[in-house]
Amino acid sequence: MKILLTGGAGYIGSHTAIELIAKGYEPIICDNLVNSSEKVLERLEQISGVKPVFYKADCCDFDGMDRIFSENKIEAVIHFAGLKAVGESVSKPIEYYDNNLTSTLTLLKVMRKHGVHNIIFSSSATVYGAPDTVPITENSAIGRCTNPYGWTKYMNEVILTDASKADKELSVVLLRYFNPVGAHKSGLIGESPSGIPNNLMPYISQVAVGKLKQLSVYGNDYPTHDGTGVRDYIHVVDLAKGHVCAVDYVTKNKGTEVFNLGTGTGYSVLDMVKAFENVNKVRIPYKITERRPGDIAQCYADPSKAEKKLGWKAEYTLEDMVGDSWRWQKNNPNGYGE
Ligand code: NAD
Ligand code: UFG
Repeated sequence: MKILLTGGAGYIGSHTAIELIAKGYEPIICDNLVNSSEKVLERLEQISGVKPVFYKADCCDFDGMDRIFSENKIEAVIHFAGLKAVGESVSKPIEYYDNNLTSTLTLLKVMRKHGVHNIIFSSSATVYGAPDTVPITENSAIGRCTNPYGWTKYMNEVILTDASKADKELSVVLLRYFNPVGAHKSGLIGESPSGIPNNLMPYISQVAVGKLKQLSVYGNDYPTHDGTGVRDYIHVVDLAKGHVCAVDYVTKNKGTEVFNLGTGTGYSVLDMVKAFENVNKVRIPYKITERRPGDIAQCYADPSKAEKKLGWKAEYTLEDMVGDSWRWQKNNPNGYGE
């Protein structure tokens, strides 16, 4: 069964390609490479023995997408493609709304033309904003986003939900990821941020490898067990496996369904630093600085709906997450950049 992965050359898409191949699916990757490298394709082949079919195409380009659907009988789409840097979205809102919304609308039009009825969308816990209570369930309030990136996730959820209300054939799964970290055990694929990383785990990894001097811990006066921010870090391979379960679900059910993909456990910034140091036997110099504007104190999932309905549960431990992040970083100090 052919599954189109838009943005499939990226961090989460590439790990999902591996898990799909392992379950006998045929991933077709489409990516404009704005935040990824074609080199990932050789790595996917090294790991799985299969080099996925690749189209360098922009999801906002109807004709380019039309060609992919004409040349392949696609059963389902996993729509990873999008710009994802929170800070950049504040300074470039037009580019973010344009890319992240136009890509989805174009994809829906092309899918309709070709009679493809199944789509899984990469949403984010960011749609919950600052939660009233934790753990966060799928019924927690959404739509209190604090930046354009978050709003594009929220708006895409609305667009997809409305499209499936109007078209009874259309089946939509919205996956709200918590904080993906880690890398494939092989150390061959992982997260390859361009420039200075915004997110905690790539930042820690680059401090460990000597590319950055020290970590800034953004605030230690939050109402959490050690004062630093708490998040639900999830191993990217667990997340990838969640997509395989979602493919099975989306092809067998109609309407729109939403799932949290998290572990249900929150760790603080200092928990992450200590785990990284202890497991990998490296030192992570850090200093406590001001809070980062827009950050929330704590955020972790109630992932029980995904377990019940998708038969999926995160299995990797914190030790796996920090160990696998480090293996990738150590073996590829410049990501796919060399
Ligand atoms: P990523 O940047 O590694 O992957 C996204 C891919 O989409 C990139 O390869 C990029 O080149 C491609 N892309 C962007 N716009 C495109 C377009 N118009 N046409 C074709 N390709 C395009 O990011 P990721 O971490 O793998 O994230 C995948 C998805 O999950 C994104 O939608 C992201 O917003 C979402 N998400 C990520 C996180 C996270 O922390 N990594 C958390 C929640 C949600
Ligand atoms: N942090 C630091 N120093 C850093 C980077 C991060 O102390 O250099 C702290 C943050 O303050 C926060 C925690 O580490 O407490 C995690 O921060 P990340 O930037 O790694 O992740 P966020 O939870 O802020 O945001 C992530 C994604 C967003 C997504 C959101 C919710 O980056 O795209 O999760 O899913 F919207």
